[in-house]
Amino acid sequence: MPATIVLGAQWGDEGKGRVVDYFAEGADYVVRYQGGNNAGHTIIVGDQRIALSLIPSGIHYPGCVPVIASGTVIDPKVLIAEMDMLAGLGFDPARVRISSNAHLIMPYHRKLDAAIERYLGRNQIGTTKRGIGPAYTDKYARFGIRVQDLFDPKIFAEKVEAGLRDKNKVLPRVYNTLPMDPVEVAAEYLSYADRLRPHVTDTSLLLWEALTEGRVVLFEGAQGTLLDIDHGTYPFVTSSNPTAGGAVVGAGIGPRMIDEVVGVAKAYISRVGTGPFPTELHDEVGDRLIELGGEYGTVTGRRRRCGWLDLLALRYAARVNGLTRVFLTKLDILSAFETIKVAVGYHSSEGSFTEFPAQQSVLYHCEPEYAELPGWGTDISGAREIEDLPGNARAYIEFVAETVGVPVGWVSVGPERSQLVTVT
Ligand code: IMP
Repeated sequence: MPATIVLGAQWGDEGKGRVVDYFAEGADYVVRYQGGNNAGHTIIVGDQRIALSLIPSGIHYPGCVPVIASGTVIDPKVLIAEMDMLAGLGFDPARVRISSNAHLIMPYHRKLDAAIERYLGRNQIGTTKRGIGPAYTDKYARFGIRVQDLFDPKIFAEKVEAGLRDKNKVLPRVYNTLPMDPVEVAAEYLSYADRLRPHVTDTSLLLWEALTEGRVVLFEGAQGTLLDIDHGTYPFVTSSNPTAGGAVVGAGIGPRMIDEVVGVAKAYISRVGTGPFPTELHDEVGDRLIELGGEYGTVTGRRRRCGWLDLLALRYAARVNGLTRVFLTKLDILSAFETIKVAVGYHSSEGSFTEFPAQQSVLYHCEPEYAELPGWGTDISGAREIEDLPGNARAYIEFVAETVGVPVGWVSVGPERSQLVTVT
């Protein structure tokens, strides 16, 4: 599979880090195409747990080039710290390639993110406060500052000054917080320029050359389908396109170059931040999923909201992404349950639904209709082949594949790299 997109099929936190890591072993390039350091990927290398927020997985494979493409937003301080951390662990960050067209997250974006959330009060999104939304806002308002601007100090200083002109009125007057000094901001960012320069390139050209030479390229989505700015549960979404279309736009390649789109879904579902969540559990079953699944955010440490697998949402993800296969993670967590539920419909005052409703108000008020499947009551963490899985676990996988209309290609049965079963 020369060009594969691996993306989250739920609200993020599906365990994409380990999935991308699995595919990255044979990849020549791993590409982040959207988002910024709001993502959190943990990869396990030997006995090391490495938390990455911006650099794609694959950095620990000597032959693999990690690419941060144009559709991303980059906090340079975080990126440099991440490269230093990797170098300290013995990995070589020199291979990291950064698009000159990617936008920069500026200090005022972080400040605005926090201020806007405070201002929204109980209507807040629950963002990661990394400045993602304000950075994309500036990009689309055409006030954004790009990586390439770092290499022209005069233009850079002018852009910071222009970028802060309105914000320095808004920050104190609307958000009751201090304005920022454009000279200081520019000086800080220009001090990063020399460090980043050797990594910066035309990543669209780089990837086009790689793909036309038949190299293996993996596109790593951050967040998830239901957090997509266009196709997610707006406004409780991130500000970019984690969906498959976002990969081609964000990486600057044509859609015909993509061979496979793998959707990663947990065998249950979780979300952080606010927003509708039809299968959310507020009982001891939800608490058990959180505790057994270790459902605490990699980036913010927040306790995730958990619930049963929602097959309407997963079928929706299959549709909007054109999924070719599903990678089901954390199947082992369900071993603890005698009966396992999966949502196959919703009921609400606005009707009954078997497809994920386009009308967001339905999601707030609907009651999920569940299919109940028998659990398998045994530890499956040692399974490596499909035959090692108990019949009820296989039946669960088949039920998911059939309802979603996409084959389940793999399931993971534990956090270790080897705890994986190839299904089809
Ligand atoms: P932002 O991306 O920081 O603007 O946050 C917007 C929404 O996306 C919030 O609900 C966040 O909790 C959520 N979000 C952002 N990044 C991730 C992620 O990597 N995993 C899960 N949720 C995320």
